Amino acid sequence: QHSLPPGYVVRPLCRTDNQVRSNTSFLKTLEVLTTVGEISEDAFRNRFQYLQDHNDEYFTIVIEDMNVPATLAGSATSSIPNLVTPGRGKIVAAGTIVVERKFIRGLGLVGHIEDIAVSGDQQGKKLGLRIIETLKAIGKTHGCYKVILDCSEKNVPFYEKCGFERKGVEMGWYV
Ligand code: ACO
Repeated sequence: QHSLPPGYVVRPLCRTDNQVRSNTSFLKTLEVLTTVGEISEDAFRNRFQYLQDHNDEYFTIVIEDMNVPATLAGSATSSIPNLVTPGRGKIVAAGTIVVERKFIRGLGLVGHIEDIAVSGDQQGKKLGLRIIETLKAIGKTHGCYKVILDCSEKNVPFYEKCGFERKGVEMGWYV
């Protein structure tokens, strides 16, 4: 595995990684992908709880830079101050793998990698590569016979560096 810069750690998403501590937020990190929208603390916790309740299916990981102490300013305005963990660093990257249960291939499992995001000022430090390596390992450990993802043409070289190859064509239908 590629080593992380000193003070950076990979860990699972936590219940407290919401928008309360805005500079450290998981949701803020996802903004490099698309519009995230306003998500209340309750809504975040409900979605997190769903992931917890399906923790053999949804795996969301983050990379945290522990060199940057979290500002505690956000905690003062939080309605759930006891859920804010002081002294944490800053989330700089995130990614998810969803393990799909199939009938084909003898009830095979397929890993779907989704929502890979590295903060703008942290790109090019191999954090994306490390996120993908970790998600691939999670998929393999949980018995997936393949791991797939959709991406833009621009990101093809990145995913090739991560060991993926072109397969098929992505189709979309937007409601
Ligand atoms: N074109 C060519 N090579 C690239 C590109 C690119 N666009 N991006 C990364 N690489 C190469 C790097 O040069 C590096 O190569 P090296 O090992 O030879 O030095 C290798 O890929 C690994 O790069 P990382 O440093 O790990 O890339 P980074 O941490 O910047 O993460 C990512 C890449 C995730 C695409 C990041 O730039 C990002 O968050 N972009 C915006 C959001 C996005 O597009 N996410 C992916 C959506 S697709 C999905 O989620 C399934």
